[in-house]
Amino acid sequence: MAAKETIISPSLLSCDFSRLADELKALEEAGLKWVHLDVMDGKFVPNITFGPPVIKSMRKECNLFFDCHLMIEQPERYIDEFADAGADLICIHAESTNHLERVVAAIAEKGVKPAIALNPATPLESIKYLIPQLYMVLIMSVNPGFGGQKYIPFCTQKVRDLKAMIKEQNADTLIQLDGGVTMDNCRELVEAGADVLVSGSAFFKYPPYAERHKLFLKTCAG
Ligand code: DX5
Ligand code: ZN
Repeated sequence: MAAKETIISPSLLSCDFSRLADELKALEEAGLKWVHLDVMDGKFVPNITFGPPVIKSMRKECNLFFDCHLMIEQPERYIDEFADAGADLICIHAESTNHLERVVAAIAEKGVKPAIALNPATPLESIKYLIPQLYMVLIMSVNPGFGGQKYIPFCTQKVRDLKAMIKEQNADTLIQLDGGVTMDNCRELVEAGADVLVSGSAFFKYPPYAERHKLFLKTCAG
């Protein structure tokens, strides 16, 4: 059986924000299927980006799968708004709410794919029992807040351990890796068990996007 192709989810954080609609179209034309939307509130992380109104406007511009990574405190306050804006997947941080299961259930209830992100130092144990409910787990491989940071090496082992945990439960939860992904480490990350790779600076700095996407896929496949 052929190996599953890695999904590349380019992080818009590194795109040209003054040309959002054009960037989305360019991704779509380049054959990308996913786009990673980094929502930051200036509290959970030091940086501020954009929220539901911008996502709603972007929704009109393309059919890409909106992979929404919420780096916000108490995300339960905004699940309906992000779902109604057009999110296909909503990923909340395990560290951002006291009632993870309730928020995951609320996301699924809206017909959106639920995912949980873990900061580099957060142990996998915190989500062990939620795995059957999760479409995806995001392993942060930098401390969230900014693009262009350096990959934290111990995260590769964390991906391997998560893969084993998912297998043990016979689940089909995807593993996403976010932060410091480059052409030099992507192969190793896929070998460790990553299904979806987020790439911001290592993607948008190297147009044309179709070529960059192809090179990522080729490098990941080895
Ligand atoms: C960081 C964000 C990432 C970031 C990745 O908080 O969650 O999605 O944009 O950017 P690179 O690929 O440049 O590390
Ligand atoms: Zn992200």
